[in-house]
Amino acid sequence: MDPKAFFKLSYGVYIVSGSDGGIDGGCVINTMTQVTSSPARLSVALNKNNYTLKLIQASGSFSGVVLSEDVEMDQIKRFGFQCGKDVDKYEGIPMGRDSLNNPYPTEGVCSRFTCRVISTLDVGTHVLIIGEVVEAEVMDEAAQPLTYANYHLKKNGTTPPNAPSYQEKTEKVVGYRCTVCGYILESDTLPDDFICPVCGKDASYFVKL
Ligand SMILES: Cc1cc2nc3c(=O)[nH]c(=O)nc-3n(C[C@H](O)[C@H](O)[C@H](O)COP(=O)(O)O)c2cc1C
Repeated sequence: MDPKAFFKLSYGVYIVSGSDGGIDGGCVINTMTQVTSSPARLSVALNKNNYTLKLIQASGSFSGVVLSEDVEMDQIKRFGFQCGKDVDKYEGIPMGRDSLNNPYPTEGVCSRFTCRVISTLDVGTHVLIIGEVVEAEVMDEAAQPLTYANYHLKKNGTTPPNAPSYQEKTEKVVGYRCTVCGYILESDTLPDDFICPVCGKDASYFVKL
Protein backbone atom coordinates (compact mmCIF):
# COMPACT_ATOMS: atom_id res chain seq x y z
CA MET A 1 0.00 0.00 0.00
CA ASP A 2 1.44 3.40 -1.01
CA PRO A 3 0.61 5.90 1.80
CA LYS A 4 1.08 8.79 -0.67
CA ALA A 5 -2.12 7.70 -2.44
CA PHE A 6 -4.06 9.10 0.55
CA PHE A 7 -2.52 12.56 -0.02
CA LYS A 8 -4.48 12.73 -3.29
CA LEU A 9 -7.81 12.75 -1.43
CA SER A 10 -9.18 16.28 -1.09
CA TYR A 11 -11.03 17.74 1.89
CA GLY A 12 -12.07 21.03 3.43
CA VAL A 13 -11.40 22.27 6.98
CA TYR A 14 -14.27 22.60 9.46
CA ILE A 15 -15.08 23.13 13.14
CA VAL A 16 -17.67 20.80 14.62
CA SER A 17 -19.13 21.71 18.03
CA GLY A 18 -21.50 20.47 20.70
CA SER A 19 -22.82 21.41 24.11
CA ASP A 20 -23.94 19.34 27.07
CA GLY A 21 -24.87 20.33 30.62
CA GLY A 22 -23.78 23.93 30.09
CA ILE A 23 -20.37 22.92 28.71
CA ASP A 24 -19.46 24.00 25.18
CA GLY A 25 -16.75 22.48 23.03
CA GLY A 26 -15.63 21.89 19.49
CA CYS A 27 -12.75 20.71 17.36
CA VAL A 28 -11.24 21.14 13.91
CA ILE A 29 -12.00 18.34 11.49
CA ASN A 30 -11.33 17.67 7.82
CA THR A 31 -13.97 14.94 7.58
CA MET A 32 -17.29 16.75 7.20
CA THR A 33 -19.04 15.53 4.06
CA GLN A 34 -22.54 15.75 2.64
CA VAL A 35 -23.83 12.20 2.25
CA THR A 36 -27.39 12.76 0.96
CA SER A 37 -29.41 15.76 -0.26
CA SER A 38 -32.99 14.72 0.40
CA PRO A 39 -33.17 14.67 3.31
CA ALA A 40 -29.91 16.62 3.68
CA ARG A 41 -27.42 14.63 5.77
CA LEU A 42 -23.79 15.17 6.70
CA SER A 43 -21.19 12.83 8.15
CA VAL A 44 -18.26 13.62 10.47
CA ALA A 45 -15.55 11.27 11.78
CA LEU A 46 -14.46 11.97 15.37
CA ASN A 47 -11.63 10.38 17.32
CA LYS A 48 -12.78 8.48 20.40
CA ASN A 49 -10.39 10.53 22.58
CA ASN A 50 -11.91 13.84 21.50
CA TYR A 51 -13.97 15.65 24.07
CA THR A 52 -16.21 17.03 21.31
CA LEU A 53 -17.38 13.49 20.54
CA LYS A 54 -18.52 13.06 24.17
CA LEU A 55 -20.51 16.31 24.03
CA ILE A 56 -22.19 15.33 20.75
CA GLN A 57 -23.00 11.80 21.91
CA ALA A 58 -24.52 13.16 25.11
CA SER A 59 -26.67 15.85 23.46
CA GLY A 60 -27.54 14.08 20.19
CA SER A 61 -26.79 17.09 17.99
CA PHE A 62 -23.92 19.19 16.65
CA SER A 63 -23.04 22.30 14.68
CA GLY A 64 -20.53 22.42 11.85
CA VAL A 65 -18.90 25.44 10.20
CA VAL A 66 -17.00 25.59 6.92
CA LEU A 67 -13.77 27.54 7.55
CA SER A 68 -12.74 30.19 5.05
CA GLU A 69 -9.37 30.89 3.43
CA ASP A 70 -8.88 33.90 5.71
CA VAL A 71 -9.48 32.06 9.00
CA GLU A 72 -6.78 32.98 11.56
CA MET A 73 -4.34 30.22 12.47
CA ASP A 74 -5.11 31.10 16.11
CA GLN A 75 -8.64 29.79 15.56
CA ILE A 76 -7.23 26.50 14.25
CA LYS A 77 -4.78 26.30 17.17
CA ARG A 78 -7.60 26.95 19.62
CA PHE A 79 -9.92 24.26 18.24
CA GLY A 80 -7.45 21.79 16.71
CA PHE A 81 -4.49 21.57 19.09
CA GLN A 82 -5.96 21.58 22.57
CA CYS A 83 -8.63 19.55 24.31
CA GLY A 84 -11.94 20.83 25.67
CA LYS A 85 -11.27 18.83 28.85
CA ASP A 86 -8.51 21.35 29.68
CA VAL A 87 -9.82 24.66 28.30
CA ASP A 88 -13.04 26.43 27.40
CA LYS A 89 -12.41 26.90 23.68
CA TYR A 90 -15.33 29.32 23.26
CA GLU A 91 -14.21 31.69 25.99
CA GLY A 92 -13.68 35.19 24.60
CA ILE A 93 -14.34 34.56 20.92
CA PRO A 94 -17.23 35.77 18.74
CA MET A 95 -19.79 33.00 18.62
CA GLY A 96 -23.39 32.17 17.86
CA ARG A 97 -25.77 29.53 19.20
CA ASP A 98 -28.14 27.46 17.08
CA SER A 99 -31.70 26.31 17.80
CA LEU A 100 -30.40 23.05 19.35
CA ASN A 101 -28.14 25.01 21.75
CA ASN A 102 -24.88 24.19 19.94
CA PRO A 103 -22.24 26.94 19.86
CA TYR A 104 -20.43 27.87 16.66
CA PRO A 105 -17.61 30.32 15.86
CA THR A 106 -18.63 33.26 13.67
CA GLU A 107 -15.22 34.50 12.46
CA GLY A 108 -13.36 32.99 9.51
CA VAL A 109 -16.48 31.06 8.57
CA CYS A 110 -18.23 30.65 5.17
CA SER A 111 -21.35 28.78 6.24
CA ARG A 112 -22.80 26.79 9.11
CA PHE A 113 -25.03 23.76 9.70
CA THR A 114 -26.95 22.30 12.62
CA CYS A 115 -27.53 18.55 12.67
CA ARG A 116 -29.43 16.05 14.75
CA VAL A 117 -27.51 12.79 15.13
CA ILE A 118 -29.44 10.00 13.40
CA SER A 119 -26.81 7.25 13.33
CA THR A 120 -23.30 6.43 14.59
CA LEU A 121 -20.84 3.76 13.50
CA ASP A 122 -17.81 2.60 15.47
CA VAL A 123 -14.98 2.55 12.92
CA GLY A 124 -12.11 1.70 15.29
CA THR A 125 -10.12 4.75 16.37
CA HIS A 126 -13.00 7.03 15.32
CA VAL A 127 -16.79 7.19 15.43
CA LEU A 128 -18.56 8.06 12.19
CA ILE A 129 -21.59 10.24 12.92
CA ILE A 130 -24.42 10.83 10.46
CA GLY A 131 -26.44 13.97 11.13
CA GLU A 132 -29.66 15.22 9.60
CA VAL A 133 -29.40 18.92 8.75
CA VAL A 134 -32.03 21.03 10.52
CA GLU A 135 -30.45 24.47 9.87
CA ALA A 136 -28.08 25.74 7.17
CA GLU A 137 -26.91 29.32 6.68
CA VAL A 138 -24.37 31.16 4.52
CA MET A 139 -22.37 33.37 6.89
CA ASP A 140 -20.16 35.15 4.35
CA GLU A 141 -21.19 35.07 0.69
CA ALA A 142 -17.80 36.28 -0.59
CA ALA A 143 -15.59 33.99 1.52
CA GLN A 144 -13.81 31.08 -0.15
CA PRO A 145 -13.73 27.75 1.69
CA LEU A 146 -10.30 26.69 2.97
CA THR A 147 -9.21 23.43 1.38
CA TYR A 148 -7.12 20.94 3.32
CA ALA A 149 -4.40 21.30 0.64
CA ASN A 150 -4.24 25.09 1.13
CA TYR A 151 -4.25 24.66 4.90
CA HIS A 152 -0.91 22.88 4.44
CA LEU A 153 0.44 24.91 1.48
CA LYS A 154 -0.58 28.48 2.33
CA LYS A 155 -0.96 28.35 6.10
CA ASN A 156 1.88 25.93 6.87
CA GLY A 157 -0.64 23.88 8.84
CA THR A 158 -0.02 20.42 10.27
CA THR A 159 -2.31 17.55 11.19
CA PRO A 160 -2.27 16.07 14.72
CA PRO A 161 -2.47 12.32 15.41
CA ASN A 162 -6.22 12.43 16.24
CA ALA A 163 -7.15 13.31 12.65
CA PRO A 164 -8.04 10.29 10.48
CA SER A 165 -5.77 11.66 7.73
CA TYR A 166 -2.68 11.82 10.02
CA GLN A 167 0.42 10.03 8.71
CA GLU A 168 3.75 9.48 10.47
CA LYS A 169 6.70 10.83 8.48
CA THR A 170 8.45 7.76 7.07
CA GLU A 171 11.60 9.35 5.59
CA LYS A 172 14.49 10.01 7.99
CA VAL A 173 14.62 13.68 9.02
CA VAL A 174 17.22 15.30 11.29
CA GLY A 175 15.40 17.55 13.69
CA TYR A 176 12.72 17.86 16.36
CA ARG A 177 8.98 17.09 16.24
CA CYS A 178 6.29 18.92 18.22
CA THR A 179 4.34 16.25 20.12
CA VAL A 180 1.18 18.38 20.10
CA CYS A 181 0.72 19.31 16.44
CA GLY A 182 3.37 17.26 14.59
CA TYR A 183 5.33 20.28 13.27
CA ILE A 184 8.92 19.33 12.40
CA LEU A 185 11.85 21.68 12.90
CA GLU A 186 14.60 20.46 10.57
CA SER A 187 17.70 21.46 12.53
CA ASP A 188 20.57 19.94 14.50
CA THR A 189 19.69 22.03 17.54
CA LEU A 190 16.54 23.12 19.34
CA PRO A 191 16.85 26.58 20.98
CA ASP A 192 15.55 26.66 24.60
CA ASP A 193 13.21 29.56 23.76
CA PHE A 194 11.84 27.91 20.62
CA ILE A 195 8.05 28.27 20.18
CA CYS A 196 6.18 26.01 17.76
CA PRO A 197 5.03 28.21 14.83
CA VAL A 198 1.89 26.09 14.35
CA CYS A 199 0.47 25.41 17.82
CA GLY A 200 2.48 27.80 20.02
CA LYS A 201 3.86 25.18 22.46
CA ASP A 202 7.37 25.69 23.91
CA ALA A 203 10.53 23.63 23.39
CA SER A 204 9.64 21.18 26.20
CA TYR A 205 6.96 19.69 23.93
CA PHE A 206 9.52 18.73 21.25
CA VAL A 207 11.17 15.33 20.84
CA LYS A 208 14.34 14.59 18.89
CA LEU A 209 13.82 12.55 15.72
C1 LIG B 1 -6.42 20.16 10.05
C2 LIG B 1 -6.94 19.27 11.16
C3 LIG B 1 -7.84 18.25 10.84
C4 LIG B 1 -8.37 17.43 11.85
N1 LIG B 1 -9.30 16.48 11.53
C5 LIG B 1 -9.88 15.73 12.51
C6 LIG B 1 -10.94 14.84 12.19
O1 LIG B 1 -11.41 14.74 11.07
N2 LIG B 1 -11.45 14.09 13.22
C7 LIG B 1 -10.97 14.19 14.50
O2 LIG B 1 -11.47 13.49 15.39
N3 LIG B 1 -9.98 15.06 14.82
C8 LIG B 1 -9.44 15.84 13.86
N4 LIG B 1 -8.47 16.75 14.17
C9 LIG B 1 -7.93 16.78 15.55
C10 LIG B 1 -8.79 17.53 16.57
O3 LIG B 1 -9.15 18.81 16.11
C11 LIG B 1 -7.96 17.67 17.85
O4 LIG B 1 -7.60 16.39 18.33
C12 LIG B 1 -8.66 18.49 18.94
O5 LIG B 1 -7.67 18.90 19.87
C13 LIG B 1 -9.73 17.72 19.69
O6 LIG B 1 -10.30 18.57 20.67
P1 LIG B 1 -11.37 18.07 21.73
O7 LIG B 1 -10.71 17.01 22.59
O8 LIG B 1 -11.73 19.30 22.51
O9 LIG B 1 -12.54 17.50 20.99
C14 LIG B 1 -7.96 17.61 13.19
C15 LIG B 1 -7.07 18.66 13.51
C16 LIG B 1 -6.57 19.49 12.51
C17 LIG B 1 -5.65 20.62 12.88
